[in-house]
Amino acid sequence: MSLNLLPYPNHLKELGGARKLAESEPRLLQDGAVAPEGYRLTITADEAVLAFADEAGRFYGEQTLRQLRNADGTVPLVEIDDAPRMGWRGFMIDSSRHIQTVDEIKAMIDAAASYKCNVFHWHLGDDPGWRMESERYPLLNTVGAWRDGWGFGNPNPARYGGLFTRAQIRDIVDYCAARHITVVPEFDIPGHSSAVLKAYPNLSCFEKECNTTTQAGVYDNVLCAGKEETFDFCFSVLEEIMELFPGKYIHIGGDEVPKDNWNACPLCQKRMKEEGLKNGEELQGYFTRRIAGFLKAHGRIAMGWNEVLEAGLDPDDIVAVKWDDPKNVCDAYANRGGKVLNENRHYFYLDYSYRTTPLRKTFSYDPLPDTLTEAGRKNVLGVEAPIWTEWVEDFRRMGYQCFPRLLALAERGWTAPGTRGYDEFKRVAELQREPLAERGIEMAPYDEWDPVAK
Ligand code: ACM
Ligand code: ZN
Repeated sequence: MSLNLLPYPNHLKELGGARKLAESEPRLLQDGAVAPEGYRLTITADEAVLAFADEAGRFYGEQTLRQLRNADGTVPLVEIDDAPRMGWRGFMIDSSRHIQTVDEIKAMIDAAASYKCNVFHWHLGDDPGWRMESERYPLLNTVGAWRDGWGFGNPNPARYGGLFTRAQIRDIVDYCAARHITVVPEFDIPGHSSAVLKAYPNLSCFEKECNTTTQAGVYDNVLCAGKEETFDFCFSVLEEIMELFPGKYIHIGGDEVPKDNWNACPLCQKRMKEEGLKNGEELQGYFTRRIAGFLKAHGRIAMGWNEVLEAGLDPDDIVAVKWDDPKNVCDAYANRGGKVLNENRHYFYLDYSYRTTPLRKTFSYDPLPDTLTEAGRKNVLGVEAPIWTEWVEDFRRMGYQCFPRLLALAERGWTAPGTRGYDEFKRVAELQREPLAERGIEMAPYDEWDPVAK
């Protein structure tokens, strides 16, 4: 049986026996030779030392030490030399389809940090509602943040919405920073823009009245790529976003963009002619390049869902996020020098049922497949798991969907495959039920984790 650690360290030697630590232990040691985010924890009969090169490494060493402590206060004697396999170990929360409270977001942040995740990707705007208070565009707050009910079949007709104030956002960004988590905000454009267009229909091709959506789906509520005022709006919102979010990366969406309006719009057609663009995909490429270029000029890096690659972007234009990529365009992008984040929906989408995505499936997936060259592997920043919330109405449901699968994501991001087997992982995952419950998170029942294997 392995020690009850999650994620499991990459190099661990059990020395046998256990002892109590003194108040002054472990001794902290700054050591520039330790890898970024890594730590060395040595607990022998006569010394206890935690070595690290950076504050994140110290934090992760402390998380390991916390998990090592036995109920009687002793700690097993060990030598651990540990550093993450991947630099990006993320979770995404969709706050558009259903919104969460600040305390719920913080509970997720605390849990994720305790398992050594280091990125919170925050999906703040989509067809059902806008969730980030804007100073410059007040109608986003008063109009874009609301929808007239939600759900299939027997929809809940109650007006639904809300947003995070700028003060709440700053509070959450600070909360993350204290836990070595970077926040990546997402402004999903030019598609998934019903909430923006409900507030500002002038930004669409035909300026028709637009409503926020009450049902899941892909809608042709797309920003007009022919109008300069669209770009002025996007740049201005991005300035507000950069003010609130200091991290290097900003996600600009780019998924599921129907081209019907663009194909019929005189302004979009004019743009295509002027820029020598052959089709809607190339127009999206133009749009993405301009937005990503704006961010680059401000020292930031744009990321986009894998559809942004359809127009053949250059490797230094954008980070591609692999979510639905049957042709493996992301692998090809990584192989020719582009940066990629693996968020493969078949393994990492936490809103899928356990029947579709059993825990074993998430745990057993190697996010660095053989189709990557040696250089390509180095261009995969890491892994991330999103919780889309059309059917995640409350925090109880969020806990059920995310845990334990987010634990498997954490292990895949940190620990090399094969370091420990699935049965051992699963045993230790069940031990997280109590600590998660203390954070108000209710994990799915054990016998639902692997319904196919039952
Ligand atoms: C996505 O799931 N549309 C990124
Ligand atoms: Zn247009």
